[in-house]
Amino acid sequence: MKRKSINEMTREELAFEYSELLAEYEQVKAERLSLDMSRGKPCREQLDLSDGILTVLKTGEDCHNSFGTDMRNYGMPIGVPAARKLFAELCGVEFDNVFLGGNASLELMYDAVARAELFGVAPGSTPWCKLDKVKFLCPAPGYDRHFRICETFGIEMINIEIREDGPDMDTVEKLVSSDESIKGIWCVPKHSNPTGTIYSDETVRRFAALKPAAKDFRIFWDNAYMVHDLYEGVPDILNIFELTQGTENEDMVYMFTSTSKITYAGSGISAFITSDRNMKHALSYIGTQIISYDKLNQFRHAIFFEDADGIRAHMKKHADILRPRFEAVLTAFEKELAGRDIATWTKPLGGYFISLDMLSGSAKRVYELCLDAGMKLTEAGATYPYGKDPKDANLRIAPSYPPLPELRMAAQVLCLCVKLAAVEKALSERGFFKSINTISLGNI
Ligand SMILES: Cc1ncc(COP(=O)(O)O)c(C=O)c1O
Repeated sequence: MKRKSINEMTREELAFEYSELLAEYEQVKAERLSLDMSRGKPCREQLDLSDGILTVLKTGEDCHNSFGTDMRNYGMPIGVPAARKLFAELCGVEFDNVFLGGNASLELMYDAVARAELFGVAPGSTPWCKLDKVKFLCPAPGYDRHFRICETFGIEMINIEIREDGPDMDTVEKLVSSDESIKGIWCVPKHSNPTGTIYSDETVRRFAALKPAAKDFRIFWDNAYMVHDLYEGVPDILNIFELTQGTENEDMVYMFTSTSKITYAGSGISAFITSDRNMKHALSYIGTQIISYDKLNQFRHAIFFEDADGIRAHMKKHADILRPRFEAVLTAFEKELAGRDIATWTKPLGGYFISLDMLSGSAKRVYELCLDAGMKLTEAGATYPYGKDPKDANLRIAPSYPPLPELRMAAQVLCLCVKLAAVEKALSERGFFKSINTISLGNI
């Protein structure tokens, strides 16, 4: 049977549904649930997949590579060669262009912005902190922690609409080529957080061919989900380094990635990949900051995986664990929300998130209703710069962590809250609450 759109319902029908939803909601609240779909954390089974890492090095002797270098000691500030080789192969770049850090690519991104602020992006270029204004383009909905880096450094953020094939490139090109104060853009080119977008070939080509007004413009290419497909046959994105090599844009790209969602979110390894010139400049400062990152961890990652195919095979095991979780949430959305004109959502082919768009002005309400019913979501607004969703419509759903039965329950609660907020909004727009004057919106 075709569902009735909320726009086609009479006031009486809405009022009836409202009372039913409210009763259901009160029942759920009475159950005192404790559910969490707030952060994209791998679940226990995923972490267990990598436990071979814990035993590949057993003795001091095991900690030497074939050249006799002792990984337990100082040295190799750019990273362990075997692990750099692994990332070079995985990312399709030269070995020399790979720097390995600690467990967090976010730290490498923060450091790249901090270096640009303090010292400039190249010898002789003006530190951003000396400029009146520095702006970044922020495809949104996007990753809240990228936006927090900008806020921390006082970088002004400009929202860029994200479409099916990537950011709105007409606007990106226009702004980047006309405004010298625009120094960067955040990109998550594959399985974007939270929309799951995969940048099309044309989008990547247009990025590679940008003509920035600012000589020190950099693309922050956060390839966090480069091998995180949920299904077979998901297309790869084009290699932006191949496209920019030998062009005037050779130094325009900073790529970041990590094994946070390949091995351990708290104990993986991270990579910063960039041109020879950028690498030399970055190393001149990193060398002051640290003597070497955790080489034992880099070394054991390299031994555990052997090569890029080892990582790809490992990621299929992750997909087998994650796919049912994503599908459980999507099935609930389809069953409970489809055909009512109250919500749309992404159907990602990989990554860690589903992006849910509801009626304008209802994301905060849904977030609060969920919280009151014992379920934590990523805060409404978090997917936009400054925490301000212009339409107050988007929520980021993270299905990876809760066990399946809990996740199914969480998806039901979420759908209930989306429906309740939608009916409540429709009724309030039709003057229902004023006319009965007994229930206030905040009272349920
Ligand atoms: C797009 C994106 N980049 C980076 C990170 C964090 O990566 P790391 O653990 O390497 O700092 C996340 C984590 O959710 C993410 O979604």
